[in-house]
Amino acid sequence: MKILVTGGLGFIGSHTVIALQKKGYEVIIIDNLSNSSLKVLEGITSISFKTPEFEKLDLRDKLGLKEFFVKHQDVSGVIHFAASKAVGESVENPLLYYENNIAALTYLLQNLVKLPEQNIIFSSSCTVYGEAEDLPISEGAPVKKAMSPYGNTKQIGEEIITDTCKANDKLKAISLRYFNPIGAHPTAEIGELPLGTPQNLVPFITQTAIGKRKELSVFGDNYPTEDGTCIRDYIHVMDLAEAHVVALERIMSSKSKENFEVFNVGTGIGSSVLDVIKAFESASGENLKYKIVDRRPGDVVAAYADTQKANKTLGWKAKRSLGQALKDAWEWEKSQDKS
Ligand code: WQD
Repeated sequence: MKILVTGGLGFIGSHTVIALQKKGYEVIIIDNLSNSSLKVLEGITSISFKTPEFEKLDLRDKLGLKEFFVKHQDVSGVIHFAASKAVGESVENPLLYYENNIAALTYLLQNLVKLPEQNIIFSSSCTVYGEAEDLPISEGAPVKKAMSPYGNTKQIGEEIITDTCKANDKLKAISLRYFNPIGAHPTAEIGELPLGTPQNLVPFITQTAIGKRKELSVFGDNYPTEDGTCIRDYIHVMDLAEAHVVALERIMSSKSKENFEVFNVGTGIGSSVLDVIKAFESASGENLKYKIVDRRPGDVVAAYADTQKANKTLGWKAKRSLGQALKDAWEWEKSQDKS
């Protein structure tokens, strides 16, 4: 069975390709290489001994996309990762985000609804919940007004898919709302490749430990949490990757009654920034240099997932620990330093 992975050379995409190959799927990747590299294809091959089919294509290229689907009518499912993901950049350049994340999604769906098999998994984010009133956060929690154009594209993306499902009986979709994906493949052949200075906590930690950054700034220690730092739900990227495969299998086997469903993908465990630092130090054996600075505007105090729906309905549960994820992230960082 052939699965199309858009953005399949990116961080979560590449790990999902591995999870798909492990289950015997044939994978075809589309990526425009704007935030990824062909080296990732080599990394995938050295893990799975299978090179996925690859086409360099930008989803905004309407004609190119149409031609792609004319050639690949036999795609049984699509996992759609290709999108821009930097919150700050989206505030500076909102139109880029609306074009990359919204226009591209509509073009993809226009082609998908003409295929014999119409299944799509959408990359969404816990950012749609904003500062949730109840913890852990369940899928029933209200979607809040987005704080950034990036967050807005995830909300609008879900709405576009909902409406398209209503108008097309054959279309089945699942939106996965990710909490905080971290880590790397345990072989250290693939991992996260942040462009420039990392905005996310874990790549900043590993780059500091290796000496690429002077020290980590911890954004605020006066939040209403036990140690005063913010709480997040950090999930190993391979656990997240495997959630995509089970979600796709659910819609491909028509197990769901609804043709659009939403699932939280997290571990259900909340960790503070200081917890992550301590866990990193013990996983790596390194001492991390850090200082407490002002809060970062826009950060929510705490977010962690109620995972019951994913556990029961998808039969999926995160199985890797925070320590394992940080160890894998560290091994990946060290392997990058050598190359
Ligand atoms: C985690 C914690 C920071 C960096 C991410 C994505 C966002 C969305 C949700 C995407 C926070 C603290 C960070 C640093 C720090 N998902 N921190 N020093 O904010 O939860 O957002 O997940 O689809 O797009 O960015 O993740 O890794 O940026 O921060 O103290 O240098 O670490 O304040 O508490 P966040 P993050």
